[in-house]
Amino acid sequence: KPLQRVGIIGVPFEKGQKKYGVSVAPAAMRAAGLIEQLEEIGDLDVKDYGDIDIRSCPETVSVDNMAHLPLVSECNRKLSNKVAQVLQDGRVAVTIGGDHSIGVGTVDGHYKVNEDMILIWVDAHADINTNKTSESGSVHGMPVALLVKELADYWPYLPTMDWQVPKFSIKNLGYVGLRSVDSYERLAIKKYEVPAFAMEDIEQHGIHKSIHHILKVLDPGMKKPIHVSFDIDSLDALEAPSTGTPVRGGLTLREAISLMEIIHSTGRLRAVDLVEINPALGNDSDRKRTLEAGLCVLKAALGFSRRGTAPRGVLDL
Ligand code: ARG
Ligand code: MN
Ligand code: MN
Ligand code: MN
Repeated sequence: KPLQRVGIIGVPFEKGQKKYGVSVAPAAMRAAGLIEQLEEIGDLDVKDYGDIDIRSCPETVSVDNMAHLPLVSECNRKLSNKVAQVLQDGRVAVTIGGDHSIGVGTVDGHYKVNEDMILIWVDAHADINTNKTSESGSVHGMPVALLVKELADYWPYLPTMDWQVPKFSIKNLGYVGLRSVDSYERLAIKKYEVPAFAMEDIEQHGIHKSIHHILKVLDPGMKKPIHVSFDIDSLDALEAPSTGTPVRGGLTLREAISLMEIIHSTGRLRAVDLVEINPALGNDSDRKRTLEAGLCVLKAALGFSRRGTAPRGVLDL
């Protein structure tokens, strides 16, 4: 079995939403044993590229209903280049956020290297608002709308964002875990027929069929590179309480692990983001549970097997 090469990028960025603490997640994940636990999977060559340098520059422009756009833009410009570099080094890009506004940089960077990529957005939320439809004005609810070319005309001119030209097509996007979708977001999902497995669909079909279906719809030839942008709030709030916008009734950790195992088994996972873990929210046990859930999800994505190393089927059940 060949070595799977992995590159870790930390993004201590939290200005895409309003709460303090999500910027601490990369350090907290490393302290929880991220690198060591990935290495324990075996057959992995893990390189830590460190953190994106987040400097608060003076914000000279402001855009209506889009808080801290210059900071979001600067962080994502750097992140996009870093993700492209990791992929060009022949590694799976594993990005630890940060809030979900950093999805702009990870997907932009991935697209630069693999134009045929498909994107699975695992989230309680659709994150496809524009600054005209958002009720919060927080950019972490807008990354998908910034990325897809089909929505480019719905945006005003965005100063500082000239580096980012939306080229990714919404036809290559699928959702898993939705249960808090705003009305305009729902319109966009319907209009472009985005395959979206909301919680009630997962309830009905199970996670296994749901993810297989999305992969088949997006890529019937089963050969395209896969990007998974995993928002920890896709998990039920009981599984991952330390997050800024928790929603009850979400994925179990078992479902999320299963989802990631299926994606790993394709052999085509090229980039995975883990975002919105906020270690400053909740008590010690909340924090620990959320970080552990994040580790389990990443390990499953990178080949950890719950069966252990015993050959499959020896018990002949
Ligand atoms: N839809 C809401 C908004 O636009 C919530 C978005 C939450 N996003 C997230 N990445 N947790 O603000
Ligand atoms: Mn999100
Ligand atoms: Mn979310
Ligand atoms: Mn299967």
